[in-house]
Amino acid sequence: MLIADEKTVKTPVLADNPYQPHLARIVRIFKMVPDNHLFTLRFEDQWTAERFKHRPGQFMMLSVPGAGEAPISISSSPTRPGVLELCVRRVGRVTDALYRMQTNDVVGLRGPYGNGFPIETLIGNDLLIVAGGLGMAPLRSLVWWALDHRDKFKKITLMYGAKNPAEMLYRDELVSLADRSDMQCLLIVDRDPTGQWKHHVGLLPTLFDHADINPATTYAAVCGPPVVYKYILQRLLALNFSKDRILMSLERRMKCGVGKCSHCSVGYKYTCIHGPIFTYWDAINLPELV
Ligand SMILES: Cc1cc2nc3c(=O)[nH]c(=O)nc-3n(C[C@H](O)[C@H](O)[C@H](O)COP(=O)(O)OP(=O)(O)OC[C@H]3O[C@@H](n4cnc5c(N)ncnc54)[C@H](O)[C@@H]3O)c2cc1C
Ligand code: FES
Repeated sequence: MLIADEKTVKTPVLADNPYQPHLARIVRIFKMVPDNHLFTLRFEDQWTAERFKHRPGQFMMLSVPGAGEAPISISSSPTRPGVLELCVRRVGRVTDALYRMQTNDVVGLRGPYGNGFPIETLIGNDLLIVAGGLGMAPLRSLVWWALDHRDKFKKITLMYGAKNPAEMLYRDELVSLADRSDMQCLLIVDRDPTGQWKHHVGLLPTLFDHADINPATTYAAVCGPPVVYKYILQRLLALNFSKDRILMSLERRMKCGVGKCSHCSVGYKYTCIHGPIFTYWDAINLPELV
């Protein structure tokens, strides 16, 4: 089943010229983890800033002058408008150039692109969000969207795993979510060299032993490196999850972001417009997706 691409949010930013980046100023750089910084951006043009809308799971094409463009997930929730937060890992040409920029410098943004999570379908259900490593970047938008609409969901469970506490993205924010009584936030690290970590130590899938998940009433949103999909999918399928209740955020190399260049195609689908959110059912029909 192809989800929600027909409902992709069309904003004024997309309405004129989809290839034209809009200028955005870096208002904050939070060095969460070495080589994983959180950039807070605000559109220069007030008209654009006020009308910009996205849905959790969508991404932007971020351009750095002289370096090029890269797709980056929107990590902030649409319920917190005015600025956009992008969690960027330094890996290559564009992200290196971004890391040389300072607060108040200007970058280009176009988007939002992609289908995003089918939020209308999720409403009224339990929500299980499972992230490993940088997979928290797109899922954080969904976490805050759901918490800001807490009355629209039954149970909310978040499972997040990192290599060690120092590499946990949004660590302070997530540790404070673990204190909330209206959700279950389970955090785990592979190793705890400090001995100070007060949450779980071990592998991400073992968190399922601490949660009570009802597959009939739950939608699961999963994002992480390939090994996360492998073991989390095993757990979800063992629980008898229906294939269209498993939603995965999947990445591909992209160029245009708008379904023109074919760089992101997987079989007959373009990840930039039919994804990046796919159901497990999509993945079975297009095995190269995962
Ligand atoms: C929908 C989507 C959302 C994303 N969200 C985020 C996000 O929130 N945060 C984030 O940090 N990143 C995100 N990414 C990944 C990011 O777009 C890439 O890491 C991007 O390549 C960075 O650009 P760069 O110029 O800095 O690196 P590049 O110079 O493009 O190099 C990045 C790395 O990819 C390797 N590479 C180059 N070409 C290929 C190829 N064809 N296939 C596989 N690997 C290749 C390079 O060797 C290098 O190791 C997302 C990608 C997609 C598609
Ligand atoms: S990135 Fe060009 S078609 Fe998807």
